[in-house]
Amino acid sequence: MAEDAVLGFLEKNEEISDSGQFAAEQGLSHDDIVNVIKSLNGFRLVDAQDIKRERWVLTNEGKTYAATGSPEVQLLLAIPAEGISREELQKKLPPSIYKIGCQQAIKNKWVEMGKSQVSRKVQHVDDIVKDLLIRLQNEEVVNQEDIDALKRRKLITPQIWKGYSVRKGPKYTPKRKKAATDLTRENLQRGDWKELEFKEYNFSAKGQPVEGGHLHPLLKVRRQIQMIFLQMGFEEMPTNNYVESSFWNFDALFQPQQHPARDSHDTFFLQEPSTTKVLPEDYVERVKQVHECGGYGSRGYAYDWKREEANKNLLRTHTTAVSSRMLYLLAQKPFAPKKYYSIDRVFRNEAVDRTHLAEFHQIEGLICDRGLSLGDLIGVLHDFFSRLGMSKLRFKPAYNPYTEPSMEIFSYHEGFKKWVEVGNSGMFRPEMLRPMGLPEDVRVIAWGLSLERPTMILYGIDNIRDLFGHKVDLGLIKRNPICRIGLE
Ligand code: PHE
Repeated sequence: MAEDAVLGFLEKNEEISDSGQFAAEQGLSHDDIVNVIKSLNGFRLVDAQDIKRERWVLTNEGKTYAATGSPEVQLLLAIPAEGISREELQKKLPPSIYKIGCQQAIKNKWVEMGKSQVSRKVQHVDDIVKDLLIRLQNEEVVNQEDIDALKRRKLITPQIWKGYSVRKGPKYTPKRKKAATDLTRENLQRGDWKELEFKEYNFSAKGQPVEGGHLHPLLKVRRQIQMIFLQMGFEEMPTNNYVESSFWNFDALFQPQQHPARDSHDTFFLQEPSTTKVLPEDYVERVKQVHECGGYGSRGYAYDWKREEANKNLLRTHTTAVSSRMLYLLAQKPFAPKKYYSIDRVFRNEAVDRTHLAEFHQIEGLICDRGLSLGDLIGVLHDFFSRLGMSKLRFKPAYNPYTEPSMEIFSYHEGFKKWVEVGNSGMFRPEMLRPMGLPEDVRVIAWGLSLERPTMILYGIDNIRDLFGHKVDLGLIKRNPICRIGLE
């Protein structure tokens, strides 16, 4: 309607000189007229020029006086012909009206303020302030002196008024055709598609950003390390059981039952189900033998091995529990060499701090073949770690119940300018491998490291709680960059 009014008016007239006036004459809202002018101007149907005017609008105080009269007149009207005491007068008026009324009435010399008595000096006055305010409200012209006075009393404030003057534009038509955005079945049936004007496609319009899933940095680094293992010809071990029996987690690994790691302070034991039901009985018997009295050249630990201890369920404390199951399975078939790896979650009952959590991820690799030596272990560690970007390695003798020899792995960190521990490794003991049934000359070299450590280094995170757990910032998970290691 507003659009018809503007275009229709311009058909018969040169210009709309003031959109405000035009809106008032047409009985339309100025906002609607302005929107129409902006749109028509954009499509060059009209030529619009800005008009800016400063006009005066009443403040809230100004609006009340325009309605109820100025305080000075209200005050004067409250004074009876014979005069009134100050207290009496004060009681008759609201405090602000009394205060402002007195100031202005005295200034106008309308009243006489005695010590206690107030009396009129004039009998009749016009409420000029009220009249001026009403005239401004009606957008009538008021002289500058009066404006200044009202402004000083904060009864009016300036407001910038924006409007347009409008003439025909180069693409003017009295009636704008609305461009069609779609060709419909009805258009085809009616045949009106012949007359339709179609809106042009905006090929540079941007679509909504696609909201998808986001991989956690640990998953990204895990994928990269998986790729390294696969490139080196390793097969993945199935790690889909967090609950394990003490037997596979400890006993099969020749870890004595009194070992401090088997304490509930270090390991989470399960209450329900608290024990395992099935274990391979003949193998259990050989494990018991090797713990109690050795064999295969070992003297064993010489203690009373208890089945109940081996049956206890726990949350696996290392992925080596999976390696022990896999090696046992391997030993049940005619021997074939294997290269296995796993990357998955393990649990330890530890005090949480900036580098430790009660659950974390382990990366583990092992090679099982005839006649392997410590040299093979050192060689494969150099190969593996250099693919991770750590080519300077050092080894330090260490101890694990299930490996001999055992070596801690250190890598020189160029950023920190020092040697940092990056993993643990060793050759599995005959006390572990022989009861499984692996041939005598079969050796297993293996190593393990955490997934968190390299992830924190790669992503520059120095508190593990920022990487994993309930304090993690989801924004970090959404925005972290892709990870590429070992593929250069
Ligand atoms: N299981 C060891 C750990 O939890 C790592 C390891 C794996 C050590 C294999 C030697 C051989 O730290």
